[in-house]
Amino acid sequence: DTAGKIITCRAAIAWAANSLSIEKVQVEPPKAGEVRIKMTSSGICSSDDHILKGLFPANFPLIPGHEGAGIVESIGKGVRSVKPGDKVLTLPIPQCRECSSCLHPKGNFCEKQDVLPSSGLMLDGTSRFTCKGEKIYHSFGTSTFSEYTVVHEIAVAKIDDAAPMDKICVISCAVPTGYGAAVHSAKVTPGSTCVIFGLGGVGLAIVMGCKASGAARIIGVDINEKKFPWARALGVTDCLNPQNLKKPVQEVVMEMTGVGVDFAFEAIGLPETMTAAWDCCHLSYGVCVIIGMAPHNSQLSLDATKVTTGRTLKGVVLGGYKTRDCVPQLVTDYLQNKINIDPLITHQLPFEQLHKAFELYHAGKTIRCVLLF
Ligand code: APR
Ligand code: ZN
Repeated sequence: DTAGKIITCRAAIAWAANSLSIEKVQVEPPKAGEVRIKMTSSGICSSDDHILKGLFPANFPLIPGHEGAGIVESIGKGVRSVKPGDKVLTLPIPQCRECSSCLHPKGNFCEKQDVLPSSGLMLDGTSRFTCKGEKIYHSFGTSTFSEYTVVHEIAVAKIDDAAPMDKICVISCAVPTGYGAAVHSAKVTPGSTCVIFGLGGVGLAIVMGCKASGAARIIGVDINEKKFPWARALGVTDCLNPQNLKKPVQEVVMEMTGVGVDFAFEAIGLPETMTAAWDCCHLSYGVCVIIGMAPHNSQLSLDATKVTTGRTLKGVVLGGYKTRDCVPQLVTDYLQNKINIDPLITHQLPFEQLHKAFELYHAGKTIRCVLLF
């Protein structure tokens, strides 16, 4: 029985930007309101990559990873929503049910999140990880690239006992982020035309949401044409590589549609593609949804003369879902064949092959590579 004891296990530590290695770490028991989880799988999301490259401000050394699935090992004082043995997902955006966002019917960007900005510490200002006597920071309050992690109860979703733990981790980030952006935030309408910038794990989950909502035409934009066959298989009708076009992609989308799209999604995280997505929208009723996380300190510049025409610009995180309320239902929907996450998982590798997983990601050969513990 490990409850109440320090656990020594393997975890990936980023000692600084571009310096990741697997180490033996000590994981403290969970304090009040916290849960210690034995990880079973974790996806690699582009936000992890941004942190590892130093593109988002973060305190090093840290244990990255936020798209995780696991089994509760032990719980701290006062934890009621989960118990040891429960299958859970880690949530990069928690749901405290007490803050202004959580109390508002539409809010989901819980004030207790640790993404923007990221302190790398638990809410009490301390860390649960050490390595060689040194304090190691958390990442997004989740740190899933570790055999064991400690997460606040408010960032843990209890899921169905039948959930396949080698796959389900993508429902902790990519699936709600993308699918939710289309079905829950934008509320894509039947017969509509959509454009999606970025056909990675998040972009393809958006495609799934557009398709499920009955979109008639789905235009996919990516500079990596390896993504196109996967995108077409999920319902993308037209694939565009901006690098092979003679005009800016937004002009091409305007010509293809005549009037602009009903819904545009940005799932890359670059100001230029956000502007391009906005410019693809129908001037009067188009809706532009920004999902990608832009680099630290970047700014968005729009033609100010054309913002009054009626278009909507909105940002959304985790699909706008109140995470603990809604994420478990997505798992149940998967088990009931209402959504299919399988096409998002192109690779699975043992945790020790983390570097290989990142190589595949950097080579643009994966949608999601899931690490298995
Ligand atoms: N134009 C078009 N496509 C681009 C460009 C560009 N300038 N730059 C990158 N891409 C494509 C990549 O080729 C890749 O297919 O965008 C895709 C991004 O996919 P991933 O790296 O797999 O990222 P993903 O995990 O899907 O996340 C996308 O959403 O939640 C946010 O933080 C996340 O900002 C990130 C975004
Ligand atoms: Zn909250």
